[in-house]
Amino acid sequence: MAVLADKVAVVTGAGTGIGFATARAFRDEGATVFITGRRKDALDAAVAELGPGVTGVVCDASVPAELDAFYGTVRDQAGRIDVLVANAGVGTAAPFGEVTEDLIDSVFATNVKGTIFTLQQALPLLSTNASVILTGSTAITRPNLGLEVYAASKAAVRTLARGWALSARAHGFRVNVVSPGGTRTPGLLDLVTPEMLKDAEGAVPLGRLAEPEEIAAVTTFLASDASSYVNGAEFFADGGYAQA
Ligand SMILES: NC(=O)c1ccc[n+]([C@@H]2O[C@H](COP(=O)([O-])OP(=O)(O)OC[C@H]3O[C@@H](n4cnc5c(N)ncnc54)[C@H](OP(=O)(O)O)[C@@H]3O)[C@@H](O)[C@H]2O)c1
Repeated sequence: MAVLADKVAVVTGAGTGIGFATARAFRDEGATVFITGRRKDALDAAVAELGPGVTGVVCDASVPAELDAFYGTVRDQAGRIDVLVANAGVGTAAPFGEVTEDLIDSVFATNVKGTIFTLQQALPLLSTNASVILTGSTAITRPNLGLEVYAASKAAVRTLARGWALSARAHGFRVNVVSPGGTRTPGLLDLVTPEMLKDAEGAVPLGRLAEPEEIAAVTTFLASDASSYVNGAEFFADGGYAQA
């Protein structure tokens, strides 16, 4: 049986990568899915591939007014949200010593401010017992060199989930974090050289990076009623990298 049948889901940052794979998994499990991203071309290509049941809306998660407009569309077309995945994220690298104000502002604008407003602006639409999933990172516990600012932003995401989970009863939702390890997405492949990729694979106890579908499978479990008593948790899908 489809585990997300009749559910309305939102996945931010889903034109490519983990978000795209998550939207596909949700569609396959029977959900009606709304996806966002900043680039219309990437979003259009994603919607064309995913087919009926998936709607793409251009929306920058770091701009609250754009989130409001996006949720207006969801309200008009679906009336509620059962599953919300705050996945949009950016990971800009810079060696410590070369970190700029722009880098900090842009990483925190999407990863932290964007996550906060993605959930806060959705509150009026969340159905009772909605499942909220935030995308973290193994960088939270094992920061990579040059990605310390990104790691700090994802640590903030983890902490937000802990805080929000405590008021689950008042809010009527449960919230969890999925923390991927290195995953073969445009976001990672654009960031690293082939040598860095080989080193990264060598550091994973399973000896390889993840495919986006392997992260989406964990998110699908947290989205489904099978995880109805899981709240405030962090699920690592990292081949053991952050545990070694
Ligand atoms: N791949 C990994 O190894 C890895 C590991 C740990 C955690 N993560 C996390 O997983 C999430 C997905 O990353 P990914 O690897 O799948 O990278 P990706 O392929 O670059 O996907 C990220 C998506 O987010 C969108 N996005 C970025 N900023 C946005 C914003 N302000 N508003 C709306 N959409 C935005 C991008 O599209 P536009 O540019 O069109 O907006 C893109 O489609 C991120 O939170 C990332 O930090 C990834």
